[in-house]
Amino acid sequence: MHSISGSFSVSYNFPVHFVEDSFNKHQDVFSDVLQLDQHHKPLILPVIESEIIQHFPQLTSQINAMFESLALPIIPVFSLQGGEAGKNASGTIEQIIDQCIAHNIDRHSYILAIGGGAFIDMVGYAAAIAHRGVRLIRMPTTVLGQNDAGIGVKNAINYRQRKNFLGTFCPPHAVINDYQFIKQLPKRDKRAGIAEAIKVALIKDATFFNQLTTNVSLLNDFEQQAMQSMIAQCAELHLYHICNNGDPFERGSARPLDFGHWSAHALEELSNFSLRHGEAVAIGILIDARYSHYQQWIDREQLKIIEELIFTLGFQVCTTTLNKLDIDQSLDNFRIHLGGELCITMLNGIGQSHEVNQIDHQIMKRCVTDIVSSWNEK
Ligand SMILES: NC(=O)c1ccc[n+]([C@@H]2O[C@H](COP(=O)([O-])OP(=O)(O)OC[C@H]3O[C@@H](n4cnc5c(N)ncnc54)[C@H](O)[C@@H]3O)[C@@H](O)[C@H]2O)c1
Ligand SMILES: [Zn+2]
Repeated sequence: MHSISGSFSVSYNFPVHFVEDSFNKHQDVFSDVLQLDQHHKPLILPVIESEIIQHFPQLTSQINAMFESLALPIIPVFSLQGGEAGKNASGTIEQIIDQCIAHNIDRHSYILAIGGGAFIDMVGYAAAIAHRGVRLIRMPTTVLGQNDAGIGVKNAINYRQRKNFLGTFCPPHAVINDYQFIKQLPKRDKRAGIAEAIKVALIKDATFFNQLTTNVSLLNDFEQQAMQSMIAQCAELHLYHICNNGDPFERGSARPLDFGHWSAHALEELSNFSLRHGEAVAIGILIDARYSHYQQWIDREQLKIIEELIFTLGFQVCTTTLNKLDIDQSLDNFRIHLGGELCITMLNGIGQSHEVNQIDHQIMKRCVTDIVSSWNEK
C-alpha cells in the first residue's frame, strides 16, 4: 500500500453590519464591504425577493443609484419568489445560475441577496454552487433573517418536502442588516423572529433571557429600539457560537443552536409550511423546555417563566399540527439530519444547556399531550 495525505486550514472572516437605510444614507457600507478602489470595480448581481420589491417599490432605483454613485457596472435587479414556497420550488436555483451566466458573474463577482431567511438560504445555495462559489452579500429583511438565518454559514433549499435537504456550508462575504426592512414586516413575522432570540438566550445567556422578559411588553408592541437591541444581541450570540464552538461546519453531532428544532422542522413539514419557522421553533421550545422540566433539569418555576414569555408574545400552539407529530419518526429524521448519533440539546437551567443522546419517548409524548391539553383549556 502507498498513501499520502494533505492538510490545510482555511480561515473565514466576515463582517455583520447593522445599519438603517443603507441605500440612501449609508452607501459607505457597500464600499467598505466591496473594498472598492479605483481599479477594483466588481460585478454585482442583485437578487431580490419579489415581496420586497412590492413593499419597497423604490428599492430597484435606489440600488441602481448606489451602483452609479460607486461607479459600478449596473446589472438589472433579478427578482424571484421568496418564503418557504421559493425554497420548495424547483427551478429557482437554475434561474439564478442562468443570471450568473447571462451577466458574466465569476468568482470575483458578488451576488447581493435581499430577502427573508428562506430567500437568503435559497440564493446562498445558488451562489455556493455557481462556479463552486460566488461571493455572497446577504441583506436579510426579516427579524429571523437578521438575528439568525442571515448571519450563519449554512444555506439550503427543501427537497421533496424535506426541510433543508440540499445545501452547503459556505460563509458569506458580508452581511448587512438594514433595520429599514423590518418596518414593513407583518406582525406575524416580527414575532416569529423573536423565537430564535428566546432559543439562544435559553441555551446560552441568562442575562439576555432576563432582558427579553423585562422587555416583553415593548417586544409585544414591536417597539423599534427593543426590537433592534434584541436582533443585535441575538445575532451576536449566534455568530459567537459559530466562530468559537469549534465546529462551524457541523461535522460532529452536537447542534446546540438547534434547541427546539427537532420538532420544529417536523411541524413545519406537517403544516405544509403554513407555520413559519419561528412559530414552529416557539412550539419546539415549549416541548423541550417541558421535557427538561419532566426530567428535573429545570424546575416548575423556570418552565412557567419560559411559557409565560412565549405566550405573552402571542405565539400560538397549533394543536392540529401538534397532534399529528410522530415523535419516533421526527426524532429519527433529526438523527439522520445530524448524521450519526442522536444528539438533542436540553436545558439545564435558564441560560444553560446540555446534550442528550437518548430521549424517553413516553415522557416526550406526555409533554406533547400536556401542551395540547393546557392550550385547549386556555
Ligand atoms: N441558514 C440558517 O442557518 C438558518 C437559520 C435559521 C433559519 N433558517 C431558515 O430561514 C427561513 C425562515 O426565515 P424567515 O422567518 O425570514 O421567513 P421567510 O423568509 O419565509 O419570510 C417570511 C415572510 O415575510 C416576507 N418578507 C420578507 N421580508 C419582508 C419585509 N421586509 N417586509 C414584508 N414582508 C417580508 C416573505 O415574503 C415571507 O412571506 C426558514 O426556511 C429556515 O429554515 C436558516
Ligand atoms: Zn431556526
